[in-house]
Amino acid sequence: MTTHPKSTHLSTDNTGSSLQTVFAVVTGASQGIGRSIALEFARRGIVPILIARDEKNLAAVASEILDTYKLEPVTMSADLSDRASVNHLLAQFEAFPGRIEYAVNNAGFGDTTPFIDCDPSSLDEMIELNVRAVVRITHFFSNRFRSQGSGRVMNVSSTAAFQPTPYFALYGSSKSMILNLDQAINEELLGTGVHVCTLCPGPTATPFHARASSDRSLLSRITMLDADKVAIAGVSGMLRGKRLIVPGLTNQLLRLLVRLSPSAVLPKVSAILMRPRES
Ligand SMILES: NC(=O)c1ccc[n+]([C@@H]2O[C@H](COP(=O)([O-])OP(=O)(O)OC[C@H]3O[C@@H](n4cnc5c(N)ncnc54)[C@H](OP(=O)(O)O)[C@@H]3O)[C@@H](O)[C@H]2O)c1
Repeated sequence: MTTHPKSTHLSTDNTGSSLQTVFAVVTGASQGIGRSIALEFARRGIVPILIARDEKNLAAVASEILDTYKLEPVTMSADLSDRASVNHLLAQFEAFPGRIEYAVNNAGFGDTTPFIDCDPSSLDEMIELNVRAVVRITHFFSNRFRSQGSGRVMNVSSTAAFQPTPYFALYGSSKSMILNLDQAINEELLGTGVHVCTLCPGPTATPFHARASSDRSLLSRITMLDADKVAIAGVSGMLRGKRLIVPGLTNQLLRLLVRLSPSAVLPKVSAILMRPRES
């Protein structure tokens, strides 16, 4: 794990009453939506702590932020699908002296391989990254934020969380679990100064789809959004205290449609939309 805990920027705290450096943890910040979220925090004067596995990509995002916003982010290389690595990361945060006000669990991956054909080790990896790491990091920062009297967690779920998703079965289920967890613990945390919200993007143009082979689905082709737009909606929704953020009108309409549809129909419609097509 590489850490560069050096920052030069001062920004106002949540109350705006005093000047101090405020940090935001962003997992999966080396590319895609996470990179855009980190840039959006930096644009607002909040210093991102960038986490992912690829140190070279992390360094590239860090220098982009330094060049554009004159902020020096912290970078931490960690494999969040590995339990020892997650524990090590949390120990690093235990000792981190700066004021962290925001934590975004964004790292995740999908796979459109039919469930029965998935490699068991890939199923385990998805549960470790999309669920277990998110649970542990959310638990850690909820406690830290409660002790300091303020802080916000945002977990990146997906519109796949809203219904069963054939051809994305475990992925959609992992995202449903996170959505339900967030909405439940946010209620438990009322009055503590800690706020937990969920960002549910629809298909977004990032390298995610190459790994998941999901860019050939009908739904992706119809509703693809830009990562910067998703990040801006996420960060501004989080700062405004929204509980659930669904970027894009089409995604919001699709969610409404899901809520109004009979539950028996949903997996069937979802299968039509999600089934990978020949390019
Ligand atoms: N793109 C979409 O259409 C879409 C739609 C809805 C929701 N989402 C969700 O949005 C989040 C971000 O997706 P994205 O589209 O930005 O994906 P992406 O472009 O593939 O980026 C994923 C990020 O996670 C990091 N990561 C992957 N595995 C990791 C691991 N084991 N440990 C630590 N970091 C890891 C990657 O960096 P390294 O490879 O260097 O580790 C990268 O920074 C995910 O949770 C995804 O499920 C995406």
